[in-house]
Amino acid sequence: MVSYKDLGLVNSREIFKSAMAGKYAIPAFNFNNMEQLQAIVQACVEAKSPVILQVSSGARKYANQTLLRYMAQGAVEYAKELGVNIPIVLHLDHGDTFELCKSCVEYGFSSVMIDGSHLPYSENVALTAKVVEYAHKYDVTVEGELGVLAGVEDEVAAEHHTYTQPEEVEDFLKKTGVDSLAISIGTSHGANKFKPEQCARNEQGILIPPPLRFDILEEVEKRIPGFPIVLHGASSVPQELVAIVNKYGGAMKDAVGIPEEQLRRAATSAVCKINIDSDGRIAMTAAVREVFATKPSEFDPRKYLGPARDRLKELYKHKIISVLGSNSRA
Ligand code: G3H
Ligand code: 13P
Ligand code: ZN
Repeated sequence: MVSYKDLGLVNSREIFKSAMAGKYAIPAFNFNNMEQLQAIVQACVEAKSPVILQVSSGARKYANQTLLRYMAQGAVEYAKELGVNIPIVLHLDHGDTFELCKSCVEYGFSSVMIDGSHLPYSENVALTAKVVEYAHKYDVTVEGELGVLAGVEDEVAAEHHTYTQPEEVEDFLKKTGVDSLAISIGTSHGANKFKPEQCARNEQGILIPPPLRFDILEEVEKRIPGFPIVLHGASSVPQELVAIVNKYGGAMKDAVGIPEEQLRRAATSAVCKINIDSDGRIAMTAAVREVFATKPSEFDPRKYLGPARDRLKELYKHKIISVLGSNSRA
């Protein structure tokens, strides 16, 4: 058993309180490898932003759970070395079993998500309450979810989405004791968040997605004032990056995300945590493809992963400063 406190990590309680009061949102960036983690730390240190490092079960399988934990510990030390002591949370993204959440608590995570959103309500409540009871013994914060996001991603799939029902939230909080709540208001995972037929098109043929259901968010806020809300599936799928991917041999068709002005609006509300993974994947892919296509003689991974890291860092700083507003809050 390792306590996250000994690793220099923090749980999400205080940073969510500050985000709520200051009307901004904390970035939750997923990582699976060193370059992603370097880009996150560099961006957050330069922008002086608190950060949530997210690890999915897929990431644990890909990179090895022990290695990831030491990398997160390394991130804390790296940030200090860069000269700014930013609050860093190590968070399990989309935990699906009690055992996985327990294992993460034991490995030094400071926050876990138990995603029972696809279960019948009473089973979601029972599973979430069990995780909270365990995690709180170690002062680890817990994120639950009500409502199902649309979209398909490796380990996170939901064929049919259902918006969060605001009538359920007070009961869910009371029965589970969660510290934050992910809700479904029209975001979804991945780079194709809406089918083309759900969108309008502008004059350039760019897809314009339907707006998020801010009415549901407002109803939730009314019922649980001051409670931290989480938005998953919040990548904006920057069209300029998609264009680079496609220009250099990629095949991302009809990719569309959540417009950044809507995320900015969400960040000023009770939404305290905004999850971004796909945008980083697209940024990395764009940079790697560009090097492969324009410098075919390169074979040193640093020559393509380096530019990928630079592009990621630029993306993360943009999100922090221009979308979430978490800059200068560390
Ligand atoms: O919401 C899911 C995250 O983007 C993680 O994706 O399960 O493919 O690692 P992953
Ligand atoms: P995106 O696929 O929109 O980046 O969402 C990531 C996410 O919700 C991670 O939990
Ligand atoms: Zn998610």
